[in-house]
Amino acid sequence: MSPEARKKRAEGFPVPAVERTHVPVKAKDFLSILDFSHDELERVLDLAAELKEERAAGRRGSQPLAGRHVALLFERPSLRTRATFTIAIRELGGDVIELPADVVSGSRETVEDVARNLERWLSGAVIRASSQERLTRFAKSAPGLHVVNALTSEQHPSQALADMMTLRERVGTLAGSTLAFVGDGNNVAASLAHAGAMLGVHVRIASPSGYELSPAVVAEAKSVARHGATIEVTHDIRRAVSGADAIYTDVWASMGQEDQADARARIFAPYQVNDALMALAGPAAVFMHCLPAHRGLEVTDAVMDSAASAVFDQAENRLHTQKALLSLLMAR
Ligand code: CP
Ligand code: NVA
Repeated sequence: MSPEARKKRAEGFPVPAVERTHVPVKAKDFLSILDFSHDELERVLDLAAELKEERAAGRRGSQPLAGRHVALLFERPSLRTRATFTIAIRELGGDVIELPADVVSGSRETVEDVARNLERWLSGAVIRASSQERLTRFAKSAPGLHVVNALTSEQHPSQALADMMTLRERVGTLAGSTLAFVGDGNNVAASLAHAGAMLGVHVRIASPSGYELSPAVVAEAKSVARHGATIEVTHDIRRAVSGADAIYTDVWASMGQEDQADARARIFAPYQVNDALMALAGPAAVFMHCLPAHRGLEVTDAVMDSAASAVFDQAENRLHTQKALLSLLMAR
């Protein structure tokens, strides 16, 4: 039982048979933040907070994945996503199987045929794929398999769950807070815009010309905005970070863009998050990064290692939010 429910019961309030945070989400898959309703997204974050507390207290939680297998298929390298989904599945009582990268690339057989095989053996598949389109094809081909996006070139929704949890922990509230993303309008920025908009966060994204967040994502975020959330795309870094509760950055060249790294390093140099930029936001501003970080490029050592830095909280919260996600997505 959640601390909130325990308190309510102690105060004499009736506690519903099924707590709000244990109500499953409607979608079969989690390919995008937009697969969830506003309430479902909040439920994932609330359950994650309960699971974090339960783990810290050394309590063994429920085992919704007992007797079930989940595959990890990673077409690209990963530390955090791979480790945290593995631990999450195991702590929920499930078993993990790791499949080689060529399985999801479609080079040996079609992704549709791979998906149809997997759904005969498994309950879920956590996939890092080069494109959202391939992931969507995979998920559509296997109605009996829960598919989870572990990053595509276009979106990184499981990262955004942890980021929203971390922002809420650090700032105290999401609705009305301001998150400034400084850098490439990439997959991480897209999922942050989706999640931030749904949860009432003012999201400002400062990027060099030609590297802005796509207008389609901005339109999607605006269409789901709640609690007065705003989305602003700008080239003006100072304007973006001024008064922000958090400054977020990510690598300038994502996986698959390695050949552009030198050119991007020159273009993005003014967008480095350093002490001077943090100071423009204000003394209480939090620094965020999904990691891996390229120290000395998009962020300085001083900022990464400062008291303002929440980067390892974000990494930790990947675990708690993904346990909540899998519990609510795969509940029977
Ligand atoms: N943040 C993140 O997704 O890290 P990995 O690429 O190491 O999984
Ligand atoms: N934008 C980065 C995120 C890594 C977690 C990439 O796609 O490589």
